[in-house]
Amino acid sequence: MDRNLALEFVRVTEAAAIASAHWVGRGEKNKADGAAVEAMRKRFNLVDFKGTVVIGEGEKDEAPMLFTGEKVGTGKGPEMDLAIDPLECTDSVANGRYNAMAVIAAGRKGSLLHAPDTYMEKIAVGKLARKVIDLDAPVKDNLKKIAKAIDKKISDVVVMVLDRDRHEELIKQIRQAGARVRLITDGDVSSAIATCFPDSGVDVAMGIGGSTEGVLAAVAIKVLGGEILCRFKPKKDSDIVKIKDAGVKDLKKIFTSEDLAKGEELSFTATGVIEGPLLQGVVFEENKIITHSVVTRGISGTIRYITTHHHFYK
Ligand code: FBP
Repeated sequence: MDRNLALEFVRVTEAAAIASAHWVGRGEKNKADGAAVEAMRKRFNLVDFKGTVVIGEGEKDEAPMLFTGEKVGTGKGPEMDLAIDPLECTDSVANGRYNAMAVIAAGRKGSLLHAPDTYMEKIAVGKLARKVIDLDAPVKDNLKKIAKAIDKKISDVVVMVLDRDRHEELIKQIRQAGARVRLITDGDVSSAIATCFPDSGVDVAMGIGGSTEGVLAAVAIKVLGGEILCRFKPKKDSDIVKIKDAGVKDLKKIFTSEDLAKGEELSFTATGVIEGPLLQGVVFEENKIITHSVVTRGISGTIRYITTHHHFYK
């Protein structure tokens, strides 16, 4: 993964984050998403690389831009596969709620699982607990082992979970095990990645969320040394067809971060739109806009936090 390319992608996520941040709290999720998509595409096409969107906004017919299969970049330079979410958490932006960001995960051609847009059950942890998790183990067993691995009392272990009816039983079991639950209305990419940062206050992310989000999170988690385990959780028959069409033969297969994002030539770039467990959001000031981003590259393992002041008068 080209070093400069990873930094170029920050300009792309910054542009998408700023464009969608103008829509925070306006109740217009499609407009917020559309603004992010348009800005991301425009900026991508200024960057010297040959990009193919392998996880995008949907199929060509339903998504006019940044659809799966779309080519981006100037066409000069390295060939990369991209998993993108120009606006992760459209509802949070529409309603002005916690946690939203613009995301690009990139890898060498063929490195990212072309996950169809359905659901996966997931568990994610940081480096210290990466070897002790098991998607098939009872919740309390996982939490006991994680607590030991991160040297915390189970009563201090924080598990971030999407606030959904489907998680009622999971939440009950986490509480019965003695751990704490933090519910979020949206955004299981940032909650999963936050487990790799001990100061995020999130030790574990659990539950069922989007499968494309599983791949996005896996890229960062792998680079950061943590682990995410995922298994497809199709909701309807058409989901099963989509999963099989994507080449997944065994529906019960548990995917590790390595299965979702192969090799070392990976990068993850995100810019916060609204503050969440990973990043601060876009701040509008009188003459400038401030953005907060994170970039991490597989080959070096470097983590860069970039705060950018975008001046209107320049
Ligand atoms: P969108 O921005 O695509 O709506 O995704 C937000 C999100 O909360 C994801 O982070 C999560 O994986 C997924 O939605 C969960 O899906 P659902 O809202 O259907 O439970």
